[in-house]
Amino acid sequence: MAIERTLSIIKPDATRRNLTGAINQRFEEAGLAIVAQRRIRLTEAQARAFYAVHSERAFYDDLCAFMTSGPVVVQVLEGENAVDANRTIMGATNPANADSGTIRASFGETVEANSVHGSDSPENAAIEIAFFFAETDIVG
Ligand code: CMP
Repeated sequence: MAIERTLSIIKPDATRRNLTGAINQRFEEAGLAIVAQRRIRLTEAQARAFYAVHSERAFYDDLCAFMTSGPVVVQVLEGENAVDANRTIMGATNPANADSGTIRASFGETVEANSVHGSDSPENAAIEIAFFFAETDIVG
């Protein structure tokens, strides 16, 4: 299997509850390395651009408002099959449907405040990583 990188975001509901370390522990225990990481406050323009793929969805405005409501931690995770591995570690988008032991089952509050975002394909991972990080920011 290939070594991949994926983009992860620890969302405002999780930073507000001081869960950054607990979530990072899940990644590291599962064998994913945090090879870049920055705590930022997204601007409205950044949130709208990052989630542009969802711009026609009814939840788009609320999602962008939520993602700008507090600090987020943007990070690059690296490891075997990292995109799918991270999706398994995160669990289903809606915490109510997430398998026990996943981040969203443990920490997610609602489908919106679901604690983490992760890229859904290697192609989108490359796009999403480049949205936040220069290659020189990433130290594998
Ligand atoms: P994320 O992986 O960040 O990608 C888009 C986000 O939209 C998703 O996680 C959810 O947190 C959020 N969202 C809010 N409402 C919905 C919904 N009804 N269906 C899917 N995603 C939703």
